Amino acid sequence: MDELEYLRTFIEYNNSRISEIEKESTGRDDIQPFVEPETGRFLSFLVKLTGASLVLEFGTGIGNSAIWMGEALKKSGGRLITVDNHPVTRIEAEDNIKRAGLADVVEMRFADAGKEAEVLLKEYKGQFDIVFQDCGKYLYPLMIDSIYDLTRKGGVIAVDDTLFKVNPYVRKNLGRYTDEYNKIIYSRKDLYTSLLPVGHGLTLSIKL
Ligand SMILES: C[S@@+](CC[C@H](N)C(=O)[O-])C[C@H]1O[C@@H](n2cnc3c(N)ncnc32)[C@H](O)[C@@H]1O
Repeated sequence: MDELEYLRTFIEYNNSRISEIEKESTGRDDIQPFVEPETGRFLSFLVKLTGASLVLEFGTGIGNSAIWMGEALKKSGGRLITVDNHPVTRIEAEDNIKRAGLADVVEMRFADAGKEAEVLLKEYKGQFDIVFQDCGKYLYPLMIDSIYDLTRKGGVIAVDDTLFKVNPYVRKNLGRYTDEYNKIIYSRKDLYTSLLPVGHGLTLSIKL
Protein backbone atom coordinates (compact mmCIF):
# COMPACT_ATOMS: atom_id res chain seq x y z
CA MET A 1 0.00 0.00 0.00
CA ASP A 2 1.47 3.40 -0.96
CA GLU A 3 0.96 6.74 0.82
CA LEU A 4 -2.05 7.73 -1.26
CA GLU A 5 -3.79 4.39 -0.82
CA TYR A 6 -3.16 4.61 2.92
CA LEU A 7 -4.49 8.18 3.09
CA ARG A 8 -7.62 7.18 1.18
CA THR A 9 -8.47 4.44 3.64
CA PHE A 10 -9.49 7.26 6.00
CA ILE A 11 -11.56 9.30 3.58
CA GLU A 12 -15.29 9.25 4.16
CA TYR A 13 -17.46 11.09 1.67
CA ASN A 14 -19.60 13.68 3.39
CA ASN A 15 -22.41 13.18 0.85
CA SER A 16 -23.29 9.87 -0.81
CA ARG A 17 -23.88 11.58 -4.18
CA ILE A 18 -20.08 12.15 -4.47
CA SER A 19 -19.25 8.45 -4.50
CA GLU A 20 -22.13 7.84 -6.93
CA ILE A 21 -20.74 10.54 -9.28
CA GLU A 22 -17.28 8.94 -9.07
CA LYS A 23 -18.67 5.52 -9.99
CA GLU A 24 -20.91 6.84 -12.78
CA SER A 25 -18.04 8.86 -14.27
CA THR A 26 -15.59 6.00 -14.65
CA GLY A 27 -14.41 5.81 -18.25
CA ARG A 28 -16.18 9.00 -19.36
CA ASP A 29 -14.14 11.28 -21.59
CA ASP A 30 -16.79 13.96 -22.10
CA ILE A 31 -16.25 15.66 -18.74
CA GLN A 32 -13.32 17.44 -17.14
CA PRO A 33 -11.70 15.82 -14.11
CA PHE A 34 -13.07 16.68 -10.69
CA VAL A 35 -11.21 17.06 -7.42
CA GLU A 36 -9.50 14.03 -5.94
CA PRO A 37 -11.27 12.71 -2.80
CA GLU A 38 -8.46 14.04 -0.57
CA THR A 39 -8.84 17.50 -2.12
CA GLY A 40 -12.62 17.41 -1.66
CA ARG A 41 -12.21 16.28 1.91
CA PHE A 42 -9.68 19.06 2.51
CA LEU A 43 -12.05 21.66 1.04
CA SER A 44 -14.80 20.58 3.43
CA PHE A 45 -12.20 20.68 6.24
CA LEU A 46 -11.31 24.23 5.20
CA VAL A 47 -14.96 25.30 5.36
CA LYS A 48 -15.17 23.93 8.90
CA LEU A 49 -11.77 25.31 9.96
CA THR A 50 -12.59 28.85 8.84
CA GLY A 51 -16.25 28.75 9.92
CA ALA A 52 -17.03 29.93 6.40
CA SER A 53 -20.53 31.08 5.61
CA LEU A 54 -20.00 32.43 2.09
CA VAL A 55 -17.88 30.53 -0.46
CA LEU A 56 -17.29 31.12 -4.16
CA GLU A 57 -16.16 28.54 -6.71
CA PHE A 58 -14.98 29.09 -10.29
CA GLY A 59 -15.37 25.86 -12.27
CA THR A 60 -18.38 23.76 -11.24
CA GLY A 61 -17.73 20.84 -13.57
CA ILE A 62 -20.45 18.30 -12.78
CA GLY A 63 -20.69 19.48 -9.19
CA ASN A 64 -18.31 17.24 -7.25
CA SER A 65 -16.30 19.90 -5.37
CA ALA A 66 -19.47 22.00 -4.94
CA ILE A 67 -21.05 19.07 -3.11
CA TRP A 68 -18.00 18.55 -0.84
CA MET A 69 -18.08 22.23 0.19
CA GLY A 70 -21.87 22.61 0.04
CA GLU A 71 -22.40 19.73 2.46
CA ALA A 72 -20.02 21.32 4.98
CA LEU A 73 -21.75 24.68 4.50
CA LYS A 74 -25.19 23.14 4.97
CA LYS A 75 -24.23 22.16 8.52
CA SER A 76 -23.35 25.78 9.35
CA GLY A 77 -26.18 27.45 7.41
CA GLY A 78 -23.72 28.86 4.86
CA ARG A 79 -23.91 29.00 1.09
CA LEU A 80 -21.85 28.55 -2.04
CA ILE A 81 -21.96 30.37 -5.36
CA THR A 82 -20.42 28.36 -8.21
CA VAL A 83 -19.70 29.60 -11.73
CA ASP A 84 -19.23 27.64 -14.97
CA ASN A 85 -19.77 28.42 -18.64
CA HIS A 86 -20.24 24.91 -20.00
CA PRO A 87 -23.73 24.62 -21.53
CA VAL A 88 -24.00 20.83 -21.14
CA THR A 89 -22.26 19.89 -17.91
CA ARG A 90 -24.03 22.68 -16.03
CA ILE A 91 -27.29 20.72 -16.48
CA GLU A 92 -25.64 17.63 -15.06
CA ALA A 93 -24.17 19.67 -12.19
CA GLU A 94 -27.59 21.08 -11.36
CA ASP A 95 -29.04 17.59 -11.24
CA ASN A 96 -26.18 16.29 -9.06
CA ILE A 97 -26.49 19.20 -6.63
CA LYS A 98 -30.25 18.64 -6.39
CA ARG A 99 -29.78 14.92 -5.81
CA ALA A 100 -27.20 15.73 -3.13
CA GLY A 101 -29.93 17.70 -1.32
CA LEU A 102 -28.00 20.96 -1.70
CA ALA A 103 -30.22 22.99 -4.04
CA ASP A 104 -30.84 25.51 -1.22
CA VAL A 105 -27.14 25.79 -0.36
CA VAL A 106 -25.52 26.01 -3.80
CA GLU A 107 -26.33 28.80 -6.26
CA MET A 108 -25.18 28.02 -9.80
CA ARG A 109 -24.28 30.79 -12.20
CA PHE A 110 -23.88 30.06 -15.91
CA ALA A 111 -21.28 32.56 -17.07
CA ASP A 112 -17.68 33.13 -18.05
CA ALA A 113 -15.63 33.14 -14.85
CA GLY A 114 -13.67 36.31 -15.64
CA LYS A 115 -16.80 38.26 -16.56
CA GLU A 116 -18.83 36.92 -13.63
CA ALA A 117 -16.07 37.92 -11.21
CA GLU A 118 -16.66 41.54 -12.29
CA VAL A 119 -20.42 41.13 -11.75
CA LEU A 120 -19.88 39.55 -8.33
CA LEU A 121 -17.57 42.38 -7.31
CA LYS A 122 -20.50 44.80 -7.49
CA GLU A 123 -22.41 42.79 -4.89
CA TYR A 124 -19.83 40.86 -2.87
CA LYS A 125 -16.58 42.82 -2.81
CA GLY A 126 -14.43 41.65 0.12
CA GLN A 127 -17.10 39.26 1.41
CA PHE A 128 -16.13 35.70 0.51
CA ASP A 129 -14.61 33.61 3.28
CA ILE A 130 -13.16 31.19 0.73
CA VAL A 131 -12.72 31.45 -3.04
CA PHE A 132 -11.94 28.15 -4.76
CA GLN A 133 -10.42 28.54 -8.23
CA ASP A 134 -10.70 25.46 -10.48
CA CYS A 135 -11.72 26.71 -13.93
CA GLY A 136 -9.67 27.20 -17.11
CA LYS A 137 -5.98 27.24 -16.08
CA TYR A 138 -5.24 30.16 -18.42
CA LEU A 139 -7.49 32.23 -16.15
CA TYR A 140 -5.46 31.58 -12.99
CA PRO A 141 -2.96 34.45 -13.47
CA LEU A 142 -5.57 36.69 -15.10
CA MET A 143 -8.08 36.42 -12.24
CA ILE A 144 -5.70 37.01 -9.34
CA ASP A 145 -6.74 40.61 -8.71
CA SER A 146 -10.49 40.10 -8.98
CA ILE A 147 -10.36 37.04 -6.72
CA TYR A 148 -8.25 38.99 -4.22
CA ASP A 149 -10.88 41.76 -4.21
CA LEU A 150 -13.72 39.28 -3.75
CA THR A 151 -12.07 37.66 -0.70
CA ARG A 152 -12.51 39.12 2.77
CA LYS A 153 -9.48 40.04 4.90
CA GLY A 154 -8.43 36.86 6.68
CA GLY A 155 -10.21 34.81 4.03
CA VAL A 156 -8.62 32.02 2.00
CA ILE A 157 -8.00 31.66 -1.72
CA ALA A 158 -7.66 27.96 -2.64
CA VAL A 159 -6.46 27.09 -6.13
CA ASP A 160 -6.43 23.57 -7.55
CA ASP A 161 -4.00 21.75 -9.86
CA THR A 162 -1.05 23.97 -9.00
CA LEU A 163 1.50 21.16 -9.32
CA PHE A 164 0.65 20.71 -13.02
CA LYS A 165 4.04 22.20 -13.98
CA VAL A 166 5.80 19.06 -12.72
CA ASN A 167 3.07 16.56 -13.62
CA PRO A 168 4.29 14.46 -16.59
CA TYR A 169 0.74 13.48 -17.57
CA VAL A 170 -0.52 17.03 -18.02
CA ARG A 171 -0.12 19.18 -21.13
CA LYS A 172 2.85 21.53 -20.70
CA ASN A 173 0.90 24.71 -21.46
CA LEU A 174 -1.48 24.06 -18.56
CA GLY A 175 1.52 23.76 -16.22
CA ARG A 176 2.82 27.04 -17.56
CA TYR A 177 -0.26 28.89 -16.28
CA THR A 178 -0.27 27.25 -12.86
CA ASP A 179 3.47 27.90 -12.52
CA GLU A 180 2.91 31.55 -13.39
CA TYR A 181 0.13 31.66 -10.80
CA ASN A 182 2.34 30.21 -8.05
CA LYS A 183 5.17 32.62 -8.83
CA ILE A 184 2.92 35.67 -8.67
CA ILE A 185 0.99 34.59 -5.61
CA TYR A 186 4.10 33.66 -3.56
CA SER A 187 5.61 37.07 -4.33
CA ARG A 188 2.61 39.03 -3.04
CA LYS A 189 3.15 40.62 0.34
CA ASP A 190 -0.58 41.13 0.88
CA LEU A 191 -1.09 37.35 0.87
CA TYR A 192 0.53 34.50 2.80
CA THR A 193 0.78 31.38 0.66
CA SER A 194 1.41 27.69 1.08
CA LEU A 195 1.26 25.05 -1.67
CA LEU A 196 0.05 21.68 -0.43
CA PRO A 197 0.77 18.46 -2.35
CA VAL A 198 -2.87 17.41 -2.09
CA GLY A 199 -4.42 15.94 -5.24
CA HIS A 200 -2.68 17.71 -8.15
CA GLY A 201 -1.52 20.52 -5.87
CA LEU A 202 -3.56 23.04 -3.91
CA THR A 203 -2.19 26.54 -3.42
CA LEU A 204 -3.68 28.24 -0.37
CA SER A 205 -3.34 31.95 0.33
CA ILE A 206 -4.59 33.94 3.28
CA LYS A 207 -5.57 37.54 2.51
CA LEU A 208 -3.62 39.55 5.09
C1 LIG B 1 -11.70 20.92 -13.67
S1 LIG B 1 -13.34 21.32 -14.05
C2 LIG B 1 -14.04 21.75 -12.52
C3 LIG B 1 -14.22 20.57 -11.61
C4 LIG B 1 -14.95 20.85 -10.32
N1 LIG B 1 -14.38 21.96 -9.59
C5 LIG B 1 -14.91 19.64 -9.44
O1 LIG B 1 -13.87 19.37 -8.84
O2 LIG B 1 -15.94 18.95 -9.33
C6 LIG B 1 -13.15 22.89 -14.80
C7 LIG B 1 -14.44 23.58 -15.19
O3 LIG B 1 -14.11 24.94 -15.51
C8 LIG B 1 -15.02 25.36 -16.52
N2 LIG B 1 -14.45 26.51 -17.20
C9 LIG B 1 -13.35 26.57 -18.00
N3 LIG B 1 -13.17 27.81 -18.46
C10 LIG B 1 -14.16 28.57 -17.91
C11 LIG B 1 -14.52 29.94 -18.02
N4 LIG B 1 -13.82 30.81 -18.77
N5 LIG B 1 -15.60 30.37 -17.33
C12 LIG B 1 -16.33 29.51 -16.56
N6 LIG B 1 -16.04 28.21 -16.45
C13 LIG B 1 -14.98 27.74 -17.12
C14 LIG B 1 -15.20 24.14 -17.41
O4 LIG B 1 -16.41 24.22 -18.11
C15 LIG B 1 -15.15 23.00 -16.39
O5 LIG B 1 -16.45 22.60 -16.04
